[in-house]
Amino acid sequence: MSLTVTSVRLTGTKYGCGGGGCGACTVMVSRYQPATKTIIHYSANACLLPLCQLHGAAVTTVEGIGSTKTRIHPVQERIAKAHGSQCGFCTPGMVMSMYALLRNKPHPTMEDITQALAGNLCRCTGYRPIVDGCRTFCQVQKGSTDESEHEKPQLFDKEEFLPLDPTQELIFPPELILMAETGNPETLTFCGERMRWVSPASLEELVQLKASNPKAPLVMGNTNIGPDIKFKGVLHPLIISPTRVMELFEVTQTPQGVWVGAGCSLSEVRSLLQKLVPQFPEEKTELFRALIQQLGNLGSQQIRNVASLGGNIMSAYPNSDLNPVLAAGNCKLSVISTGGRREVPLNPDFFVSFGKTILKPEEIVVSVFVPFSRKGEFVRAFRQAPRKESSFATVTTAMRVFFSEGSRVVRDVSIYYGGMGPTTVSATKTCAALVTRPWDDETLSRAYDVLLDELVLPPSAPGGKVEFRRSLTLSFLFKFNLEVLQKLREMVGLQFLPLPREIQPSLQEFQVRKYPSFKDQSVQDPVGRPIMHRSAISQATGEAVYCDDIPRTDGELFLVLVTSSRAHAKITGLDVSEALRLPGVVDVITAKDIPGKKVRTMFGYHEELLAESEVSCIGQMICAVVADTRAHAKRGAAAVKISYEDLPDPVFTIEEATEKSSFFEPRRVIRRGNVTEAFETVDQLYEGEIRMGGQEHFYMETQSMLVVPVGEETEFKVYVSTQWPTSTQDAIAETLDIPSNRVTCHVKRMGGAFGGKVTKTAVLASITSVAAWKTNRAVRCVLERGEDMLITGGRHPILAKYKVGFMNDGRIVAADIEYYTNAGNTVDESVLVVEKILLHMDNAYNIPNLQGRAAACRTNLPSNTAFRGFGVPQSIMVVENMVNDVAVVLGRPADQIREINMYKGPSVTHYKFEFSPENMLRCWEECKVKADYSARRRAVDQFNQQNRWKKRGMSIIPIKYGISLARKKAAALVHIYKDGSVLVTHGGTEMGQGIHTKMQQVASRELRIPPSKIYISETSTNTVPNTCPSAASFGTDANGMAVKNACQTLYQRLEPVRQKDPKGSWESWVNAAFFEKISLSATGFYRGPDLYMDWDKMEGQPYAYFTFGACCCEVELDCLTGDYRTVRTDIVVDIGRSVNPSVDIGQIEGAFMQGLGLYTLEELKFSPSGLLYTRGPSQYKIPAVCDVPLRFNVYLLSDSHNPHAIYSSKGIGEPVLFLGSSVFFAIKDAVAAARAESGLVGPFSLDSPATPERACLACASLFTQKIPASKPGSYKPWALNI
Ligand SMILES: Cc1cc2nc3c(=O)[nH]c(=O)nc-3n(C[C@H](O)[C@H](O)[C@H](O)COP(=O)(O)OP(=O)(O)OC[C@H]3O[C@@H](n4cnc5c(N)ncnc54)[C@H](O)[C@@H]3O)c2cc1C
Ligand code: FES
Ligand code: FES
Repeated sequence: MSLTVTSVRLTGTKYGCGGGGCGACTVMVSRYQPATKTIIHYSANACLLPLCQLHGAAVTTVEGIGSTKTRIHPVQERIAKAHGSQCGFCTPGMVMSMYALLRNKPHPTMEDITQALAGNLCRCTGYRPIVDGCRTFCQVQKGSTDESEHEKPQLFDKEEFLPLDPTQELIFPPELILMAETGNPETLTFCGERMRWVSPASLEELVQLKASNPKAPLVMGNTNIGPDIKFKGVLHPLIISPTRVMELFEVTQTPQGVWVGAGCSLSEVRSLLQKLVPQFPEEKTELFRALIQQLGNLGSQQIRNVASLGGNIMSAYPNSDLNPVLAAGNCKLSVISTGGRREVPLNPDFFVSFGKTILKPEEIVVSVFVPFSRKGEFVRAFRQAPRKESSFATVTTAMRVFFSEGSRVVRDVSIYYGGMGPTTVSATKTCAALVTRPWDDETLSRAYDVLLDELVLPPSAPGGKVEFRRSLTLSFLFKFNLEVLQKLREMVGLQFLPLPREIQPSLQEFQVRKYPSFKDQSVQDPVGRPIMHRSAISQATGEAVYCDDIPRTDGELFLVLVTSSRAHAKITGLDVSEALRLPGVVDVITAKDIPGKKVRTMFGYHEELLAESEVSCIGQMICAVVADTRAHAKRGAAAVKISYEDLPDPVFTIEEATEKSSFFEPRRVIRRGNVTEAFETVDQLYEGEIRMGGQEHFYMETQSMLVVPVGEETEFKVYVSTQWPTSTQDAIAETLDIPSNRVTCHVKRMGGAFGGKVTKTAVLASITSVAAWKTNRAVRCVLERGEDMLITGGRHPILAKYKVGFMNDGRIVAADIEYYTNAGNTVDESVLVVEKILLHMDNAYNIPNLQGRAAACRTNLPSNTAFRGFGVPQSIMVVENMVNDVAVVLGRPADQIREINMYKGPSVTHYKFEFSPENMLRCWEECKVKADYSARRRAVDQFNQQNRWKKRGMSIIPIKYGISLARKKAAALVHIYKDGSVLVTHGGTEMGQGIHTKMQQVASRELRIPPSKIYISETSTNTVPNTCPSAASFGTDANGMAVKNACQTLYQRLEPVRQKDPKGSWESWVNAAFFEKISLSATGFYRGPDLYMDWDKMEGQPYAYFTFGACCCEVELDCLTGDYRTVRTDIVVDIGRSVNPSVDIGQIEGAFMQGLGLYTLEELKFSPSGLLYTRGPSQYKIPAVCDVPLRFNVYLLSDSHNPHAIYSSKGIGEPVLFLGSSVFFAIKDAVAAARAESGLVGPFSLDSPATPERACLACASLFTQKIPASKPGSYKPWALNI
C-alpha cells in the first residue's frame, strides 16, 4: 500500500483503517495459473497485501482502469453520475470492488453487487446511490421495466452511460504469463530493514524451513498476521510464504468427501463447494451447505479472497466462523512436518487456548478433509454479529445431528460454539444429554438446561455481552430444533409446519420524487437541477487530491503522537532518549517547545495542547515524535517512556460525575409555564429515563495536515483537512506566537468531517506547526484510524430523566427533563451542545409546561466535540421516547399521541420563538400517505399475531430542526480571468456535502454562464479571511448569499460592455471589460440574521428558520437473536426549494443512515480503566450496505418556500440524522409485540443504540429469562456504561 502512494505516486488507493475493515484501499489482483492456463482476478485490501506476496501478480489500482486524461471506465462513470460519490474517499474502493466483480461477471445480480460491496464502508452517501449506479450493470429482464419508472423524474440518465465492453479491459501482462510458464521455481528471499521474507518453491523445502524456524509464521492471506504486525507491534524477523507450494492448493475428491488444500482462499473454498453441491444428493451435502452459508457471511469479499482455509483454522480465533462447522462436521486435517504426514481430527481437543491448537509449531496443514453427510444427518450453522455483514460474530455455532434411519432417536450429535470463551468450544455435555434419546420436547428441554450450565461465562468475560451471548447459545439450539423438526417431519411423513418467514437480504426498489419543474427556467441555469457533485468523476478515478495526497517535499518529516495510557495521573517522568537514538527520529516535541500559548481556552477553561504535569484521560496527547518516515516516527513513539503516579478516583460515568458534582459550567435551565403546578392537575404522571451512547465521527479520511515553513519571516503554509480553516489559522498563530497573517490554511477537500474537524483539528495542527517551526522542515501528521478514534472524541453520550404529566385523552400538559452529557476531560463545545439540547427539547410538540435542565459532565474520558446535529439527536430522542411511553401507558398508538400534541397553527416555542408548523404537519401527513401507514400498520399487527419469533414494528417520527448559527456571516471572492474562466472562492469547505457544486450553480445562475466555466480550487484563509465553520447546516445558506453578492457585483460591472455589444459573447464582454479597465474581481459578503438567545430570560431568536420532516420505518426483528432488518423507510422532508435535489437527497439519505447507525448499531466501549476498546472498523460498526432499508423512499415536500435562505432553499446537512431514530422506535414497537407474547405490557426501557443485544434482551424471551443476571457490584464489568 505504501508503495502505491509513496513510490509510484498512485494516490487513488485510499488508506482508511489499515486493517481490512473499510475497503477504501481495494485493488484488483490478477494471477496467471499455469496449471489451468487461466487468469484469475479478485479484489483485495491493499493495506493487508504484503508486497513480497505479489511476486508474479498484476495489481490494478483505480488509476489503471480509467482517468479523465484518457477515458473513464463505466464503473467510475456510473457511480459518479448516480451521485454515489460525496466526499469521495470511499469511492476508489467502491469502484475497484465493483470492477473486480465485473471482470469475473459482466452481468452480475443484485446479490453479487451487495456481496461485492459488503466490505466497503461509506460514511456519506447511505449507499443507495452507489448501489443504484452499480445496479445499471445488472441484466435487465425483458419486459420487466416498471411503467412508473418512465413517469418519475430521474436523478440520473442511464441512457447517457458508456456501455461496458469487457473486450476493452486491460490485458494481463504477457511477461508475467511467460514468467509463470517458464520461470525456474526457486526459493525467493526478500530482505527488509528488520525482516526477511522467504518463499519456498516446494513442499519439502517448506517443511525444512519450518522445521528450522518453528516460530516463523506461514503467511498466506496475511489477514491475521498483518493486523498483528501493524497494530500490536509484533515483529517477525522471518516470514515464510508458502503461496507457491502447489500441494497446498490441491483439491481431491474421494467417495467419503473432499480434501481441500489448506492454502485455498475462503472464496475458492466456497465456489468449490457451490460447484459440488448440485452434483450430489441433498443428504450428502449437509455439511457443504452449512460451510457455504458461513463462508458467505465471514468477513468481506476482499478478506475471503485472500484469507486461507488453513490460516483460518490455525489462527484459532475464539469466534472463527469456520472452526465450529469443521469440527461439528467431523473434518480432519492432513499435516506434515519433518517427522512425516499425519491426520489430525478437528475434535474438542484440537483448540487448546486463545490462538493455539494441538499442532506442533513446525507442523504445516496441507489439506482439510470435508466429509459427505449421511442419510439422516443434518448440519446447520448460525451466527449473530453486531452487523449482519463484514463483522466478526458475537456468537457463532454449528450443530450436527445423526438419526437412526427412519426414527427420531439421536445416534450421534456434535455442537460447537465460537464466541463463548478463548477458543472454539464443544458443548460435549449437552451432546451427551441428547444422544440415544428421541428428539422431542422433553429431551430438548433437558438439553437447554445442560447447555446453560455447561457454557457459563464469568460476568466480566472479555467482550462483555455476557447475558446476551449465553442466551444466544440457547436460541441457536432452539433454531436448530425448529429446523430439525421440519426435516424430521419430512422424513417420517408428518405435516410440514411453516417456519417464520425470512426477508430477502437484497436491496429493492428505490424512488425519488420530483424536483422543481423547470418550465420557466433557462436551460443553462443549473439551480434546482440534480447536478452531479462537481468532483465526482475525479473522485471516482482517484485523481481527487486529499491532504495526504500532496506530494512529499524535500526533507519532510512525519509526526506521530504519544498519548497517555492513564486516565488520571501525574506525569512523573518523560524519557525520550531511547526514541531519539532510533534511526530516522529527528526530534521529540513536548509542551516546553511551544513558543506561544500552550493552551487553548474555551468557556474560560484551559486545555493544554500537550500535557505537562498531569493527564486527565487515556489518549491525551503528551508529546510528538518527528522522524523521516511514518514507520520510524511510530517506532520512536513506541520507545518514549512515560512514568505516572495515579491520582485517586477517576470519574468515568455520568452517575459518578453527578455524584461528585463534576460539571463544566455554565449549566443551563429553560422553563415555560409551571411544571410543578401542572403536575398537580394532570390525570396521570409517569417517570422514565433513557441513556443514549455516543458516536464516533468515522470520517473516512482521518485527521490530516501538512505544515510547511516557507523559510522567511515565520511564514507557514498549512494544508489541512478542516471544516474551519480560520480557527486552525488562529490556533497556529497563537501557538507559535506569530501574527495570523503569517499563516495561510488551505483546504482542498475533506474525506468527510461531520463536525469532527473543527476544534480537534486546530489542536493537532498547532502541535504539528510547533514541530515544523522547531525543525524548520515540513511536517505531516496523518492519524491512524485507531489514534484518531482514541484522541478526537465524538458525539456526547447522554443520560436523561423525565417526569411527564398527561391527560387520559393523550394531551401532555407538563414535562420536566434533566439531561446529563458525558463531555469528557475538556469542555470543547460541550456548553453549546447542552444549550442546543434544551432548545430542541420540545421537538414537534407544544407542551404548555416544559422545564429542562442540562449539564455537561466533566469526566476522565477523551473530550467529546461537535457532531452532526450537535446535541439535537440526543435531545429529540428523549422527548420522543417520553411521548412513546405516554402512548404505552395509555395503551394507544404512538402516532396518535404524537399528533395530539403537535404544534398546530401559529405557534411559539418554549423560548418564545414564533413560527408556523404548517410544513411540519404537511410532511407528517404526506409521510403517512406515502408510506401507506394505516394499511401497513394493520399488516404489521397481523404479521405479529401469526409469528412467534419474528416480530415487525413500525413507527413514524416528526422533526423540527432549527437552522443557523449566531454571528453567522460569509464572504466570497470571485475572479474573472481574461479568457472568461471564473474562479470562485468562498468561506465554506467541501467535505462531501456538495457545497462547491452548489456554489458553482449559484455563480452560474448569477453570471449567466455555464457551470463548466466556473472553477473552485480550494478554501483558503488568504482569499477569504475570518470565516465561520462549515457547520450547523448553514454553509450553503450563508456562502451562497456571499457568492451571489460577488457575482451580482461583477455582472453589474459588465453591464456597460454588454450594452455596447448586446450580441457579444461572455468571453468578448470579459475581454472588453479588461481593456476598459473594469475590475474583474469582486468580494461578496453576507451578514447573517441577528440571532440571539438570552439564557437568563430563557428566550430568544436562536434560529433563522426550521427545517421539517417526517420518517416512517418498518423493521422485522428476530426475537431470538435481536437481528433486525429495516424493511422499508419513507422520508418526507421540507427543504424549501432545493438548489440541487441530487445533493440534497444525498444528504438526506446519508444523514438517515448515520442516524440509523447512531440509534441502532454504533457502540463505543470503554474499559473499566477508561481505555476506548473500539478503535477501528473491526470493533466499531458503522452502517454498511447490508443495513440500507430494503425500500428506501425519499420525498421532498412540494410547494415550500423559505425567505431566509438562498433561492428559497433550506439547510439539510443535519436534520435528517435524527429521523434514523424511527428505526429505533420501530424496533421498540417490535420488542413490545414480543413482550406482549410473554405477558409483559406497559412501558419498558430500551437504551440507544438498540443493538441486537439490547433488542434481544428486551424481548424477554424464554431463553433470555433463563439466564441468571449477575449481581451488580459483585464483579468488574468488562466495559463501562458511561
Ligand atoms: C477485517 C477482517 C474480518 C474478518 N472477519 C472474520 C469473520 O467474520 N469470521 C471469521 O471466522 N474470520 C474472520 N476474519 C479472520 C480471517 O478469516 C482469518 O484471519 C483468516 O482466515 C486467516 O487466514 P490467512 O490466510 O489470512 O492467515 P495468515 O494471517 O496468513 O496466517 C494466520 C496464521 O495461520 C498460520 N497458518 C496459515 N496457513 C497455515 C498452514 N497451512 N499450516 C499451518 N499454519 C498455517 C500462520 O502461521 C499464522 O500463524 C476476519 C479478518 C479480518 C482482517
Ligand atoms: S485501509 Fe484497507 S481496508 Fe481499510
Ligand atoms: S463518499 Fe463515501 S465516505 Fe464519503
